[in-house]
Amino acid sequence: MDKLVIYGGKKLKGRVKVSGAKNVSLPILAASLLTREKVCLKDVPPLSDVYYMMKVLEKLGAQVYSAKDSINIKADTIRGEGPASDLVSRMRASFLTAGALLGRRGRVKISLPGGCSIGRRPIDLHLKGFRALGAKTEEACGYICITAEKLRGERIYLDFPSVGATENLMMAASKALGTTVIENAAEEPEIVDLANFLNALGAKISGAGTKVIRIEGVRELGGAVHTVIPDRIEAGTFMVAAAITRSKILLDNVILDHLKAVVAKLKEAGARLEEQPEGGVLVSGENCTLPLDIKTLPYPGFPTDMQAQFMALLTLAEGNSVITENIFENRFMHVSELNRMGANIRVEGSSAFLQGVKQLQGFPVRSTDLRAGAALVLAGLAARGCTEVLEVNHIDRGYYRIDEKLRQLGAEIHRVTMKEESEKEMTEATETAVPR
Ligand code: EPZ
Repeated sequence: MDKLVIYGGKKLKGRVKVSGAKNVSLPILAASLLTREKVCLKDVPPLSDVYYMMKVLEKLGAQVYSAKDSINIKADTIRGEGPASDLVSRMRASFLTAGALLGRRGRVKISLPGGCSIGRRPIDLHLKGFRALGAKTEEACGYICITAEKLRGERIYLDFPSVGATENLMMAASKALGTTVIENAAEEPEIVDLANFLNALGAKISGAGTKVIRIEGVRELGGAVHTVIPDRIEAGTFMVAAAITRSKILLDNVILDHLKAVVAKLKEAGARLEEQPEGGVLVSGENCTLPLDIKTLPYPGFPTDMQAQFMALLTLAEGNSVITENIFENRFMHVSELNRMGANIRVEGSSAFLQGVKQLQGFPVRSTDLRAGAALVLAGLAARGCTEVLEVNHIDRGYYRIDEKLRQLGAEIHRVTMKEESEKEMTEATETAVPR
């Protein structure tokens, strides 16, 4: 397990490019199983989760190869009953292949995706939607078998605007007989980009980005070349990096329209954000010191994936803040780690109450999940002294070379691979060993 070592207190400056979106690359990779034709994807970030999804596709018989700036997939034959269970347990987003395999050939056997550190992550809404489309679902011995003679279009109401359920059902319905209407659908930009990709393959989807999505099933889908949208959560994370270090930086490859709630909160806290005529967004965080009241909500509300990063920022606000997490039941694990760095945060139920402090103190802390890890890196950028963020593998799932990008902006941060660490400890041990 690598760790990141950060010496805080440095101002950031310069510019950095945001990568393609992880949370649309994964469903779009899964959706490539819907067609026998070649699919070429650009701007997909080379993250560990993307690597695992490519492995899932390969084990299902697809030809997958990376060119210089693209990932190419050709799933002209599908083998096996479903994604390999060891990969599903590593990466729950593998469950997004269920909708694609159902749409492609009417059956899939898939191990139940476990929960994760932030919550139970049930799949009841996915299964309810598949059944509405005419599929049978049977659970046994940790697997679920989903079969359908022929998927038939139906009107489906989602009890909660689940992103994954909306994606899975769009994929399955794209090849169903007749028309499907998904009501109370998720409205995230990633849903829109997935719909655009499916339509480029020949699907007939309208309404993506609203609460009502209409999918007219088609018999066959073709190939396409598609560039994924920028990662709005990575962009938001770098915006907070500028805010917490009271710096000014320029971000390239950002669609501000995808970040309205985040931009509104940053401005409310005192930041300035301006789109530049020559491109890019200038983020001025010098005066981003005001406390906030934040509630996470489905898009277009404040994104749960930015909650931890804002908590790091608000530990240093001039006043008291409240953050309420309404999406996941256990997404405050970064609180104890931030308090070890000198923050003053109290959790009651789904709300965290922060009293701003003058200074954080560098400390060895552990990342428990992707966004919590990012929050600890942000806190380390502002803390006095040295912060070590352990278990960086969580962060690498969602951020491509975050240490290099932050170093490019002037942060004093470097990665220590634990192999180096053990060699260093070995050397120290032998040097201090008492001569016989
Ligand atoms: C996607 O997860 C994202 N992951 C998450 O990003 C993100 O936090 C989440 O959407 C919400 O925006 C990917 O896109 C790969 P949901 P997903 O289904 O689809 C409940 C990150 O940090 N629910 O919208 O799993 C569920 O328990 C990750 O990048 C059911 O009850 O999220 C949760 O409370 C973390 N039954 C809520 O809905 C279901 O069948 C939101 O889940 C499905 C979900």
